Amino acid sequence: IGFVVTAWGLLTAYVSMAYLWPSKKAIGNGSGKSVTIPLSGIPVGKSRKIRYEGKPIIVVRTAESIFALSAVCTHLGCLVNWNEGDNLIECPCHGAKFDLRGNVVGGPAPKPLESYRVQIKGKIIKIG
Ligand code: FES
Repeated sequence: IGFVVTAWGLLTAYVSMAYLWPSKKAIGNGSGKSVTIPLSGIPVGKSRKIRYEGKPIIVVRTAESIFALSAVCTHLGCLVNWNEGDNLIECPCHGAKFDLRGNVVGGPAPKPLESYRVQIKGKIIKIG
């Protein structure tokens, strides 16, 4: 009985410590943590917003490539949208416009959108 109680106590302590102090890998620290989405989840010409490391990002698929950028406007922080007709990422708040590399091409945004690494592996899009 003593052995079972001791083993139970050690297991409970281990689980509690792992919960309270998760490893860097578990919480993501920008060094290897990635997000995957199916290629079919974003038709050509469309976009999708997802969260990456706790931040909103916008993933845009064109006929040529796939781009992943911060979805947070660098002006005052509104969420940007993809405008397929103009081939630009636009902010609905004050009209900032960004190209698919994140560069500011119009409006009041002071800095480009942060861009993220994108890889296509078979039918999977890997970001990060
Ligand atoms: Fe985007 Fe102002 S918050 S243009």
